[in-house]
Amino acid sequence: MESLKIHEIPGRVTVIGGPGGMPVIQVRTDASEAEIHPHGAHVTRFRKNGGAPLLFMSEASEFQPGKPIRGGVPVIFPWFGAREGQPFHGFARVTVWDLQETAALPDASVRLRFRLPEGDGFQADYIVTVGNTLKLELSVTNTSATDLTFESCLHTYFQIGDIHRTEVRGLQGASYLDQLLGERLTEEAGSIRFTAETDRIYQDTAATVDIVDPALGRIIRVRKSGSLSTVVWNPWIAKAQRMPDFGDEEYLQMVCVESGNVREHAITLAPGERATLEVELDTLPLD
Ligand code: BG6
Repeated sequence: MESLKIHEIPGRVTVIGGPGGMPVIQVRTDASEAEIHPHGAHVTRFRKNGGAPLLFMSEASEFQPGKPIRGGVPVIFPWFGAREGQPFHGFARVTVWDLQETAALPDASVRLRFRLPEGDGFQADYIVTVGNTLKLELSVTNTSATDLTFESCLHTYFQIGDIHRTEVRGLQGASYLDQLLGERLTEEAGSIRFTAETDRIYQDTAATVDIVDPALGRIIRVRKSGSLSTVVWNPWIAKAQRMPDFGDEEYLQMVCVESGNVREHAITLAPGERATLEVELDTLPLD
């Protein structure tokens, strides 16, 4: 706690005790507020003044060492999905990151920089900038003498008003792996709608994605760079019931649109090279 408190900025950055006895960093700017857990460098809250929360957080989430938080923005690194004998979706989301620096910037936003301590052959830095938008940057540097290959994904859970009326736009024409069918398909639709469990890895797409949410009267805009994969996920009814840390009805109020580099878009860095994945999240009124 003390190592975090030295990074407090009066009126901007405060460290408090959170659920499960874990510390939480609260950020306040003129335009917005946010919360970040050093556990996983996990952003659990972002809200623009006067708006609804941007990020969905499950009421049933655990806050325990070694367990991922359900909701917000899990940082998936250095692999996506299963790896034998290892944590699903990598260890970054279940590791306590070091908070290295906080800064109040001239444009009134607040920037926090985290570093993953277990850098065996790599250095992973995560910069969170809270302002009018929420900006997330994951930089990985190969500090070893050989090539480094990894996957990464910012597994963002968005708060929406009603999944039945939600549309995801921007992926038309992209090819995707339907993880439920195990088939490679091409997105024909201009707007993706949700009527069942959905788990798709869209590839070769750097496109901006809009989540159109008439129930909350807003569009969530996901802009990214350094990313060629976009994952779209909603667990729907049966999977929601199977997940112990997710409410049975919560699938109605969330959708994951995840930006990263997974499967065939895993990144390989030569010694000394660095790759940065950048995502900027914003909301616009829907009229
Ligand atoms: C998604 C995967 O990214 O994450 C899904 O595509 C998975 O297959 C989901 O179910 C949630 O994973 P977890 O480990 O957080 O329950």
